[in-house]
Amino acid sequence: MAYITETITYVKHWNERLFSFRTTRKPTFRFKNGHFVMIGIEVEGKPLMRAYSIVSANYEEELEFFSIKVPDGPLTSRLQSIKVGDKLMLSEKSTGTLVTDYTFPGKNLWLISTGTGLAPFMSIIKDPEVYEQFDKVILTHGVRYSACLAYHNFITKELPNIEYIGDLVKEKLLYYPTVTREPSKNVGRLTDLLKSGKLAKDLGMPEVNIEDDRFMLCGSEALIKDMCKILDDKGFVAAKKRTQGHYVLENAFVAK
Ligand code: A2P
Repeated sequence: MAYITETITYVKHWNERLFSFRTTRKPTFRFKNGHFVMIGIEVEGKPLMRAYSIVSANYEEELEFFSIKVPDGPLTSRLQSIKVGDKLMLSEKSTGTLVTDYTFPGKNLWLISTGTGLAPFMSIIKDPEVYEQFDKVILTHGVRYSACLAYHNFITKELPNIEYIGDLVKEKLLYYPTVTREPSKNVGRLTDLLKSGKLAKDLGMPEVNIEDDRFMLCGSEALIKDMCKILDDKGFVAAKKRTQGHYVLENAFVAK
């Protein structure tokens, strides 16, 4: 695989488990919102690379990533101490299934994420074309503790005021963070909230149905498996390679 090298421009530690960072971006590096790339560093003369979804929208100047920190993870144990000015390797090409090309047209786009599975959806909620395609875009983020709600402030405070996209966000984006292991405004697993109808009800949305609703799933293997079952039972069909479906999915890459 061909790699390019970029320079770290920004690092933010959310807490002891999560951090984000940005790199420079060569103008020749193109991607679709929702795509992932391989990123990494050289260890003992060899590239050590993992798949990471791109948080940035494809019109942004830099590339942002969102990562967990695994103390004994070969890559993240090193990556978590990365500093501005350090080098990062990236694959030349991006790819992924979390793009609207693979969903049937519909009214509402539900973005279902847990943990770092939020990353590709950060790119998608900054994409004006997505708002042209759907009446409502619903971003959900399931985490254990409120402190893990990365990007909460950006989504609620900054994004609606960004000139290029703010008005579309105000009109069409709904955000539903939920916490499972401490009290919060919204509590419970997204699977349970979807199944019981509470998710739609809390958001003032009609009950989820096959005519109007499309889904993108990104999170742990367990979340994906359970969500697929709920959607399949309702008659939704997953997109298969290069065909459209009612929903698309990607495991949040367990970057170690
Ligand atoms: P829970 O606290 O009940 O395990 P993690 O940090 O382990 O990736 O989890 C992120 C969030 O995803 C947590 O809120 C967790 O809930 C939730 N979660 C884990 N497994 C599932 C699942 N199978 N379906 C829905 N949510 C899940």
